[in-house]
Amino acid sequence: APPPQQLSCPLMIPAKRRKLGAPAAGPVADVIRFPHVAVFLLEKRMGASRRAFLTGLARSKGFRLEDSYSPAVTHVVSEKNSGDEVQAWLETQTPAGDADRSVHLLNMTWFTESMAAGHPVKIESRHRLQVTEGGAAKSGPSAVTNTMGAYACQRKTPLEHHNAVLTDALLLLAENADFCTNEGRSVAFKRAASVLKALPGPVRRMEELQGLPCLGEHCQRVIKEILEHGASSEVEMTRHSEHYQAMKALTGIFGVGVKTAEQWHRAGIRHPADLVSSEHKLNRAQRAGVEYYEHLRVPVTKAEADRIGEIVKRAVDAVLLGAEITLTGGFRRGKQTGHDVDFLITHPDEGREEGLLPKVVSWLEARDLLLYQKTNKNSYLEAKEWPARPPSNMDRFERCFSIFKLQRPWAALEEPPQSGERGAAETPGWKAVRVDLVVTPVSQFAFALLGWTGSQLFERDLRRWAGQKGMSLSSHALYDCEQKRYLRATSEEEIFAHLGLEYIPPGERNA
Ligand code: UTP
Ligand code: MN
Repeated sequence: APPPQQLSCPLMIPAKRRKLGAPAAGPVADVIRFPHVAVFLLEKRMGASRRAFLTGLARSKGFRLEDSYSPAVTHVVSEKNSGDEVQAWLETQTPAGDADRSVHLLNMTWFTESMAAGHPVKIESRHRLQVTEGGAAKSGPSAVTNTMGAYACQRKTPLEHHNAVLTDALLLLAENADFCTNEGRSVAFKRAASVLKALPGPVRRMEELQGLPCLGEHCQRVIKEILEHGASSEVEMTRHSEHYQAMKALTGIFGVGVKTAEQWHRAGIRHPADLVSSEHKLNRAQRAGVEYYEHLRVPVTKAEADRIGEIVKRAVDAVLLGAEITLTGGFRRGKQTGHDVDFLITHPDEGREEGLLPKVVSWLEARDLLLYQKTNKNSYLEAKEWPARPPSNMDRFERCFSIFKLQRPWAALEEPPQSGERGAAETPGWKAVRVDLVVTPVSQFAFALLGWTGSQLFERDLRRWAGQKGMSLSSHALYDCEQKRYLRATSEEEIFAHLGLEYIPPGERNA
């Protein structure tokens, strides 16, 4: 087999811009003569081949035809769909509150007449689709095949879904975009994967994606290739690229972010083992990360998370009577494995939780249960943060990043120690496990719980949704920027209600 092609960021330029997607009309590159009219042809009921034909025709006449829907589109043209259907579809494409923007919803007569005239004709009422007042809402989800909110917090995303092949591919591209510090692109791939996770069944044909939000041109190309050929060449090249593999290994070290990994990569470091003999200075977290690398790359099981929960509970009980701990993160969403274990600690009497963490850490250290820990004090002060200063996404809770030394009493029962080469050094009677402990005042508990349960994309979209509603959400509080006041909540349900969202239980936040 030929050696995998070297690639990192350059290949991330969409093939379209590399001029693969020349319009069907002919070999000469079409010139856009009417840039202010951006037409989008709705494929539903028109069909892919007719749409491709019409697209090529219009482009050859200097029209600007968009391959996918975006806020840049000014004219939506559809065939054989009612105005209400198109309106309902449009609402799934635009972030809420944005749906009233002046996109023209047109029928084929406008398109045909414009083709005949050789320029976009003036829109008359007979060109427009009739949308009844509230009609889209009334006709309900059955009006279009796919109605799905554009925000992850508007839909239910179960842990088990039907499109793992597609989402694994898109998430690998997202990961690679992160490794190239292209956050925008990474989020776009994650959003697309998240939409596919929420579908009721496996995608078999491209037409089934019609009307779904967040599926840009690049994502569609990847999906199409997988549906047709079983794999995507871009994904496979990325997966085997030296840059991707090295960045995956290096960012897999606890305490190492993309920036550091990229610096090391440029200096020729490919693997954590290369660091041991190198001159590169490591901080305390990174030294622990390298030392326990092999342990920490093994996923934590739910059983291990529960075992650590018991230990944390004992520690907390010993230092503050009545304190409560809650397992959050992926395990609260029903995951059976995770990269770490996340706990929230609180006390029903506000204020009693202050300064709790150093005592818990001492208790654990005295019993030789910690391999590493770094504790940060609480730096959140409501009055100072808001409204004077713009809210930041950073948590300011009293927090401890740690690595637990989890004894394996059951190891001997499950896999008897091997004699010979696999000695005790290789399979010790303990396992290093990443644990995050976060202390929250009880008045902020619901916000902390919502913020720490994830998934990351779900959280990102919750904050974006809040922003679009004139509010600001963090793991500490919800602030109404118009009323200039905090909106209190003692449960996650209340926070969803404040935000005008249907409640989504943790098990369906796996966006
Ligand atoms: P994790 O990174 O632990 O992810 O953050 P996870 O969903 O539990 O998945 P694993 O651990 O890889 O299996 C859990 C949640 O906590 C929030 C993140 O937004 C995520 O939703 N979080 C994490 C914060 O709010 N602040 C942080 O500093 C870290
Ligand atoms: Mn976690």
